[in-house]
Amino acid sequence: MNKVDQLIEEIAKSNATTQEELEQFRLRYIGKKSVLGELFSELKNVPNDQKKEFGQKINHVKQLAQEKFKSLIDQLSDEGNEELNQQHIDLTLPSSGGESGSAHPLNVVRMKIIEIFERLGFNVSDGPEIEDDWHNFTALNFPENHPAREMQDTFFIERNPDILLRTHTSNVQARLMKSDKPPFRSIMPGRVFRNEAISARAHCVFHQVEGLYVDENVSFADLKQTLYHFAKELFSQDTKIRFRPSYFPFTEPSAEIDISCHICKGDGCQLCKYTGWVEIAGSGMVDPNVLENCGIDSEKYTGFAFGMGIERITQLKYRVNDLRLYTENDVRFLKQFKTAH
Ligand code: DAH
Repeated sequence: MNKVDQLIEEIAKSNATTQEELEQFRLRYIGKKSVLGELFSELKNVPNDQKKEFGQKINHVKQLAQEKFKSLIDQLSDEGNEELNQQHIDLTLPSSGGESGSAHPLNVVRMKIIEIFERLGFNVSDGPEIEDDWHNFTALNFPENHPAREMQDTFFIERNPDILLRTHTSNVQARLMKSDKPPFRSIMPGRVFRNEAISARAHCVFHQVEGLYVDENVSFADLKQTLYHFAKELFSQDTKIRFRPSYFPFTEPSAEIDISCHICKGDGCQLCKYTGWVEIAGSGMVDPNVLENCGIDSEKYTGFAFGMGIERITQLKYRVNDLRLYTENDVRFLKQFKTAH
């Protein structure tokens, strides 16, 4: 009992002017190993007739210690505030700046592409980056064991059945057509993966935008006009466009799309390799096999599709000549696109 009275006095007299002293107080009177803790464990040695009184008393000390601890905390923080006031810090002043970030150039271009196609009535669709063989290849008319599969160096995650990182955004075409009913008028931006060594002109991760338009009576003229409009909107109104015959398993006929080089205006420069033209996309009329694979009546419906690389379009629009710049995230590079929105 004496010990307890002594403790009450000690607690009342305690003070803490620093965080360390506050912590010492906590350890001595509040923590598990505090003197109070010891008193609680002594409870079992107290004769039964005094147990009640002793118990009440140490509970009272515990309460006193906690109240004191709280008041010491308040006192310390008041002192801290006073110190702040003495330093004349005016917290209501506006901040001294700090720079705001900017959208990544690939995002700037992706948003521009989406905006142009949305005005033509296209919506945006999304699909998985980890894909099965069927949606990435088979549905898109790549025959089994056909060398066309080797055109794209695939990262396989599992073999038999094959699970892979999609090599193009065309997988979303297959997903869309399989799960919904025509008409479709959609663009599908996303990340794609190919097993390529990283260099100025190749990367193992890059971005594409896929486009798909399926309805009754869709013709090659619609494809031409849509991409013509797109190129003019994105680059400039005097952009010329040409279609070069090509081959993709999922389109028939297929064409590669070139635009007049907007850097030299067709006179010839390094970017267009002195041809006056630069390639921007692959395209074609959706192969009837693809429509049928996805459960769409190819007698009733026709469609066009196209696919373009966002890095490529950004390179042409902003003259970025090294693909590695997009992933290095050097702020000196990124800052240049602040006003590009
Ligand atoms: N998937 C092709 C590629 O990655 C690009 C492409 C070409 C997409 C023609 C299309 C298309 O939809 O019709 O190279």
